Amino acid sequence: MNFRGAHILSVAQFARQDVDKIFRVADRMEPFAHRRQVSKALDGAILGNMFFEPSTRTRVSFGCAFNLLGGHVRETADVDSSSIAKGESLFDTARVISGYSDVIVMRHPRVGSVAEFAEASRVPVINGGDGSNEHPSQALLDLYTIKKELQSQGGTIDGMSIAMVGDLKHGRTVHSLSQLLLLYKDIRFTLISPRELSMPADIVDRLRQEGHEVAETDDMESGLQDNDTVYLTRIQEERFTTKLEADIYRGRFRLNQAIYTRHCQPNTVIMHPLPRDSRAEANELDADLNQHPNLAIFRQTDNGVLVRMALFALILDVEDKIADTAADVGWYTERRF
Ligand code: NCD
Repeated sequence: MNFRGAHILSVAQFARQDVDKIFRVADRMEPFAHRRQVSKALDGAILGNMFFEPSTRTRVSFGCAFNLLGGHVRETADVDSSSIAKGESLFDTARVISGYSDVIVMRHPRVGSVAEFAEASRVPVINGGDGSNEHPSQALLDLYTIKKELQSQGGTIDGMSIAMVGDLKHGRTVHSLSQLLLLYKDIRFTLISPRELSMPADIVDRLRQEGHEVAETDDMESGLQDNDTVYLTRIQEERFTTKLEADIYRGRFRLNQAIYTRHCQPNTVIMHPLPRDSRAEANELDADLNQHPNLAIFRQTDNGVLVRMALFALILDVEDKIADTAADVGWYTERRF
């Protein structure tokens, strides 16, 4: 694909070579993300960061990624304080905000809303999550993490096995990640969820049609066996009509040190898009795994900055200017962990 000026709305836009390209650029962003260098490639550029649903990681890491390339970030984080609360259409908001920005990241609770917004936008729009539909930048950072984790064990994405656990019906991260994996060969998927929260049938059908092996189960213990990666998710409470309905499923599938030791193969990489629901009644990923070397959740969040920098660099076409404008930083940059 031609990245210059492109909207990023769905993982379906990418061919395998596009993903390779994003990952190659992401690799080159390490000196900036690790605070050894600063770049001015996007000096003066403005990111409109529009989040009409709660977000910490996605919003802040897109913002930091833009800052690290030298650009400025404008936040619109709260629907109640924006004109959408006065009945403004997405069309009008898009026309207005795109007059103030060079690129926009948008998250919104309604499926398809970001694509609708992008139609009316005069500048490129990145989907930061549209309801339960898609979250393409998360899938890219998840895959980038999987690639690195497996590489460190001598493995590859082709031929890998992954267990996805939890609310696979409403989880946009697993929808995007599984579809991004369609670009690779011979993946074995084990989809572990309550029956009512299973992966949408159209996605499962496509995975099978493309020759991948898919097993669906509501038995976590058997499902966890023999996977390179286990990807846990939170019950997406906000997609249920009532909290009580979500409570039925909360806490049903949990991973902790004891379960990991008993049921997972020793090298299984542990992933979660975060936030993990750490309340006692949920606790899908226990803090007793926090020191586990295969716990990749904070490597995922760190990698998010690299991948998001790469997307901005490619969309705004400054990929070749980053090194030219790079300078060493002069402040304290050591990290404790
Ligand atoms: C996810 C999301 O918003 O879809 N979070 C994220 O962006 N890392 C997952 C979730 O909220 O459960």
